[in-house]
Amino acid sequence: MKPTKVILDCDPGHDDAIALLMAHKLPEVELLAVTTVCGNAPLAKTTANALRIMELIGATDVPIAAGCVSPIARPLVLGTADGPSGLDGSPYLPQPTIKPVDMHAVDFLAAVLREAEEPVVLAPTGPLTNVGMFVLKYPELLNRIEKVVLMGGACYRRDEYITPTEFNIFCDPEAAEIVLTSGMDITMVGLDVTMRVVVEEPQYEAIAGINTPLARVVEDWLKFYEKLHRGQMGIGGALHDPLVLAAVIDPEIIETREAHVEIDRTGTHTFGATVADFWGLRGLATNAKVASQVDSEKFFSMFYKSLEM
Ligand code: BDR
Ligand code: CA
Repeated sequence: MKPTKVILDCDPGHDDAIALLMAHKLPEVELLAVTTVCGNAPLAKTTANALRIMELIGATDVPIAAGCVSPIARPLVLGTADGPSGLDGSPYLPQPTIKPVDMHAVDFLAAVLREAEEPVVLAPTGPLTNVGMFVLKYPELLNRIEKVVLMGGACYRRDEYITPTEFNIFCDPEAAEIVLTSGMDITMVGLDVTMRVVVEEPQYEAIAGINTPLARVVEDWLKFYEKLHRGQMGIGGALHDPLVLAAVIDPEIIETREAHVEIDRTGTHTFGATVADFWGLRGLATNAKVASQVDSEKFFSMFYKSLEM
């Protein structure tokens, strides 16, 4: 089968880093470009991290473009799980020999889409600022995007781990609103499912058993990355962004339900919440497929496979 052509828009971030390596290593994906955005760390750091990760995994031929330095209409609130560098716990990562392309990510997205022979899958794993700006600037190119599979949101709230808001949407709710009203085919992979792919003892053992240089790096990342979750909730690190990649490769890894999703941008305690109407009660057309279930075993075998290579 032909590999799926993917553009990854990310803010690495440990879990973004793992999504990047899965996109590069797994043969089902052809990674056309990586674009970076502020989120887990300021843009300069997320871009530097993307470059270092791509150097580490030998993906130096994949172009990287740096994007927006702040959300569309608000000051940047940084993520907290990844440490000040955005990728703490990796002091040995190589200094990159590669450089970002000399184009803003939003324009680079347009250039890559124009050149692609067929529509491309867009996989955003950070705040949606670049994608929102792209929608505003290049509406004529939206039909070049086959679908958007994004990490963002929390819609079911049946799980004690699920907060009313999810970071990527909370960080730039205006961008999220622009993307959700763009008419693109959108799959939201939110906390409802990503909090079910958590790295605990059995997963650590499996990773240790793989014992490749890459598996050892990832183990170190995960040990740092889990600190926040472990401290706050007593659970390991959730592989939010890698699940997006897995769902691009095998859409059946998640089950989805169609809904009309809007973002709460005024709530005091629910600011940034993704409010989903699954039954059409508000009489509004559906605008997203919201992931509701995940086959975590299938996910982890895909993740382990990417570490073996
Ligand atoms: C999302 O926020 C970031 O911290 C992670 O990289 C992930 O994309 C999870 O809420
Ligand atoms: Ca991310």
